[in-house]
Amino acid sequence: QVIDAAGLTVAPGLVDTHVHFRDPGFTHKETIHTGALAAARGGFTSVICMANTSPTVDNVSVLTDILARAGKEDIRIYQAACVSRSLKGQEPVDMEELKSYGACGFTDDGIPIRDAAFLYSAMEKAKELNVPISLHEEDPSFIKNNGINHGNVSDELGIYGSPSIAEESLVARDCLLALRSGADVVIQHISSGRSVNLVRMFKAQGASLHAEATPHHFTLTEDAVLKYGSLAKMNPPLRTEEDRLAVIQGLVDGTIDIIATDHAPHSKEEKARPLTAAPSGITGLETSLALGITSLVRPGHLTLMQLLEKMTVNPAKLYHLPAGKIKEGEAADFVLFDPEECWTPDEYASMSCNTPFTGWKLYGKVKMTICRGKIVYTEG
Ligand code: DOR
Ligand code: ZN
Ligand code: ZN
Repeated sequence: QVIDAAGLTVAPGLVDTHVHFRDPGFTHKETIHTGALAAARGGFTSVICMANTSPTVDNVSVLTDILARAGKEDIRIYQAACVSRSLKGQEPVDMEELKSYGACGFTDDGIPIRDAAFLYSAMEKAKELNVPISLHEEDPSFIKNNGINHGNVSDELGIYGSPSIAEESLVARDCLLALRSGADVVIQHISSGRSVNLVRMFKAQGASLHAEATPHHFTLTEDAVLKYGSLAKMNPPLRTEEDRLAVIQGLVDGTIDIIATDHAPHSKEEKARPLTAAPSGITGLETSLALGITSLVRPGHLTLMQLLEKMTVNPAKLYHLPAGKIKEGEAADFVLFDPEECWTPDEYASMSCNTPFTGWKLYGKVKMTICRGKIVYTEG
């Protein structure tokens, strides 16, 4: 088959190391199948699902059930397992067993790990198994209302939110643990400038640290909460313009090596609750590439090649994904997109549409996604 790609950019299929497909347990928000459709529509051919499903992915039977169903989808779906049983931060999972059944990484994403000694021993095990451990960094003891930065906007709303120190204090701790353990440690969805500085400092000292930035953290600030309400509520929260620019600087100088969406679907009814009661998180798979082009490439922060590195090879290498090891002659994964086309997100393949970017003017439109040599999405 000949595909006319005139005027389009051809890139490796995108990789998202941080998605929530809600399956099992919250399939009114997303399923493995609808998540896979949303991924393909966004140009993604490999995704890593987080473990905060219900039940959580802390045992072989949940893991193998997900992987068996994921294997029937058109894209490559990987699964991270929990660090602790039921994400309670107390009892360790059997990391070796879960890895042998296909877990591609370990994370308690959604619920930060509070016990440093517990986390350190998990890092030592991760090091031994040569598998990344990914961390949601927010110390709950600092937080009253999660999902909203504690600062000017929360003051205006008359609430106490989640201050950036909640993130920075855990990032500092975990940079030290990473340096000491030698494990591949991923700081997930980094949102504060001081966190970026910490990662930069500890990388320079030799820690095997990695960091993810989300499209919303490099595009929006806390002001978005005033405009979009609960559609701008997520953990960690959107912060100040200074933080946003520091995240961009981290992407520019390589401190932040991965762009990941934290695709977190929630239903319309759930997001319609009052701001402090609505769940945190926004969808991201179908707008991620366009936000990278619109917020990073067009203003001249990154070249298109640098953006694509953070959305393909860097994450594929870190998680040892097959997408990073395709050899000549093997069926490969591609995305075809028009980097110049201006478009407006207005409908989604995801079951949920909880994104503040609906109606925005974005640049960069995915035209076709090919996974394992098969066309898995065509525009229109
Ligand atoms: O905003 C968030 N939503 N942050 C998380 O860490 C979890 C996620 C979710 O599962 O909804
Ligand atoms: Zn998280
Ligand atoms: Zn997440």
